[in-house]
Amino acid sequence: MNIFEALRTSHTTQRSLADNLIKTSGDSKERDLLFKELKAELSAHAAAEERFFYVPLIAHDMTQEPARHGIAEHHEMDELVEKLEKTELSSPAWIAIAKELHHKVYHHLEDEEQGIFQLAGKVLTEAEKLSLAKDYEGEFLSQRVKA
Ligand SMILES: [Fe+2]
Ligand SMILES: [Fe+2]
Repeated sequence: MNIFEALRTSHTTQRSLADNLIKTSGDSKERDLLFKELKAELSAHAAAEERFFYVPLIAHDMTQEPARHGIAEHHEMDELVEKLEKTELSSPAWIAIAKELHHKVYHHLEDEEQGIFQLAGKVLTEAEKLSLAKDYEGEFLSQRVKA
């Protein structure tokens, strides 16, 4: 498995959790559980991806700016997650913010898969693509059990 395949595994999980989250209603167990799952998945993925994908990309001119942009989008998603935590599950505002988060997650993953991945494919060596995948996976799993 290379780094792109490793990252895509979590992207698939994020899309499906975000899709299911915006189908929930009111103060339900389902909404609560899906939100906790999505929050844990986003946070573990962002931490491991920043360390073993974005940081190495910042070292290359061609990927420095897109990597910084990707990290900034992680912060924007964090802020929406925090906003959801401060909002009552039963409030109509909750689903509006959840839809905003859904939109941002989709946009970010699209940016990564269609933009940054192509550039990273050019600057990383084949050996790096494999070793970063292993490092990413280890970090992702350790972050995921903590959450
Ligand atoms: Fe990602
Ligand atoms: Fe990301």
